[in-house]
Amino acid sequence: MIKKITYGAPFDTEAVTGAYESWQGELPYFSQEEGRKFSYRMAEEDIVFGLGENVRGINKRGWIYESKCSDDPNHREDKRSLYGAHNFLIVDGKECFGVFFDYPGKLTFDIGYTDRNVMLIEAQTGDIDVYVIEGEGPEDIAKQFRGLVGRSYIPPKWAFGYGQSRWSYMNEDEIREVVKKHREAGIPLDSIYLDIDYMVRYKDFTVNEETFPDLAGFAEEMKEQGIHLVPIIDAGVKIEEGYDIYEEGMAGGYFCKEEDGSEFVAGVWPGRVHFPDMLNADARKWFGGKYKVLLDQGIEGFWNDMNEPAIFYSEKHLQEVFEQLEEFRGINLDNEASASLNRLVGGLSNNEEDYKLFYHEHKDGRVRHDKVHNLFGYNMTRAAGEAFEELEPDKRILMFSRSSYIGMHRYGGIWTGDNLSWWSHILLNLHMMPSLNMCGFLYTGADLGGFGSNTTEELLMRWLELGIFTPLMRNHSAWGTRRQEVYRFTQTGSFRKIIALRYCLLPYLYSEYMKAALRDEMMFRPLSFVYAGDRFARRVEDQLMVGESIMIAPVYEQNAKGRYVYLPERMKLVRFRGPEDRKEEVLEKGHHYVDIALDEVVFFIRPDHLVPMSKGGSCVEKVDFDHLGLLGFVEKEGSYELYDDDGYSRDYESPSHYTQITVDAEGRISSGGEGSRKEFYLI
Ligand code: GLC
Repeated sequence: MIKKITYGAPFDTEAVTGAYESWQGELPYFSQEEGRKFSYRMAEEDIVFGLGENVRGINKRGWIYESKCSDDPNHREDKRSLYGAHNFLIVDGKECFGVFFDYPGKLTFDIGYTDRNVMLIEAQTGDIDVYVIEGEGPEDIAKQFRGLVGRSYIPPKWAFGYGQSRWSYMNEDEIREVVKKHREAGIPLDSIYLDIDYMVRYKDFTVNEETFPDLAGFAEEMKEQGIHLVPIIDAGVKIEEGYDIYEEGMAGGYFCKEEDGSEFVAGVWPGRVHFPDMLNADARKWFGGKYKVLLDQGIEGFWNDMNEPAIFYSEKHLQEVFEQLEEFRGINLDNEASASLNRLVGGLSNNEEDYKLFYHEHKDGRVRHDKVHNLFGYNMTRAAGEAFEELEPDKRILMFSRSSYIGMHRYGGIWTGDNLSWWSHILLNLHMMPSLNMCGFLYTGADLGGFGSNTTEELLMRWLELGIFTPLMRNHSAWGTRRQEVYRFTQTGSFRKIIALRYCLLPYLYSEYMKAALRDEMMFRPLSFVYAGDRFARRVEDQLMVGESIMIAPVYEQNAKGRYVYLPERMKLVRFRGPEDRKEEVLEKGHHYVDIALDEVVFFIRPDHLVPMSKGGSCVEKVDFDHLGLLGFVEKEGSYELYDDDGYSRDYESPSHYTQITVDAEGRISSGGEGSRKEFYLI
């Protein structure tokens, strides 16, 4: 049951698909003031799930968060927001309900920060749509919410392969070398990401002809080796006479303008840029159409970046700072003076005041950016997604973004931005998975190994042991940090085995992803969603259910030889050292210490559940999805509903995609359904 309560005159974010009549009754659960402040008294046992991409745990209680898409590479506990704005919560305890605050500007979520027992949500203005969702429990509520906001984005199957990325792959030869090293070491690989260095001076939709003289030919050469090139696209368009994108944007009036009608000037990678007005349908159509330049060269995937939008400086503010700097010249920089100098210069980037300087021409009228700030990245990715539907109607294109708002999940996935090579960020990666799934973001993952700072072999290996389960599995690192392609370390063989296992698990992971997308369900669930009555399961913050059959409990501590795991029911522990080396043991419900060596992947199978597995392959295309081994924990009868398709086309509905598999206690397999041409064997 969904109730929509409208306050004031909300901006149409288009997060919700379809028209929902506002409910005329009182807002349940909350008391509200001015349609702007909403408070809920929490009971001692209440858990608060949600907020998608943000800091801290799965249970959000005990901190204050903000919805304010931010370009912030320090994902520390004391932060309040990251790159996305995902305003959906589920309270589960004394009462159980979901709530979505559909509001495009800044929101504050004080969840027991000021008062342990009070949740206070505060918007800037009293123009907001609040949706309250009631249901049978958190899972049902999440599903109803997903029904409200529309089907999640579905990437091509190859995008479930392993991707290698690094900011600083400068030319074709460097990439050839990276691919060769993976292939030589037998490490499966499906994609290489092109960061900003493939462009001419960071100009969108250009390709540097000195370093990439024939992108189409190179993309073809890579494809022959099973590799997809995935270029980055940035939000800012370089201001440069003669640069076609700039000229067209100016001629069409597609860039964001200041109050006086002049184009707003910000600084990002290329220096001075204009921002395409992503909230203006015409500008969106124009910008989206530009992806064709790269599609025509054989590119089949993109990542959209800097679309909070990130601002290194605004031209206006920069001039002011230069003037004020004069005041510091020649004076004795004591404590106060040097602090204010630092504040002055440090305040240049991502300054909230700059977001008040420009406007959008939206269908419902002119609107100042800060009031709709959280919709920018969403609409940049929507521009691309809508263009792909037109340009490539029969083909799925990989797309994921850094910034997002709920609604964007229909057009692309997200990666979780500039994390660090920190152990705590493995756990943060895990925490975000179910929170993001609740909000519709299924195609997601972190920069494995850590983006900023120097990784270690151990950290990268442990992180990959989680990463093999996340739909987006990409090793990405920043320019200037230690190189972290897996072949650069001593235990290449162990890395190979871990990544190879991902490819063996693909039939299961892809099937679970697709079912979750097509049925508005979550692929990653907190244990408490599944074992609601279990007081230990309700509090677990470092284990997850992955799909219907598996529970994972990754290691996220340096020098650990294993970890404590809570089993909410009897399960089968499976221990892999590469696809060929598997050990199993049945563990009873309860608390266990489980040894997990550095090069081992351990997961747990629920009773009477199955995990279809392939024999792997060097890339997704080489994986045989038609002859599958069944790994199971069958006590009475194990069953599994397998989804599979060609991985490229957009026909998801055909019953021929489904196979019903059962295995009885004697190990007899039967399979049916229209997809039953597949063959299965026990492993
Ligand atoms: C941003 C992105 C990062 C990328 C870098 C250079 O920091 O988040 O992934 O490598 O920009 O483009």
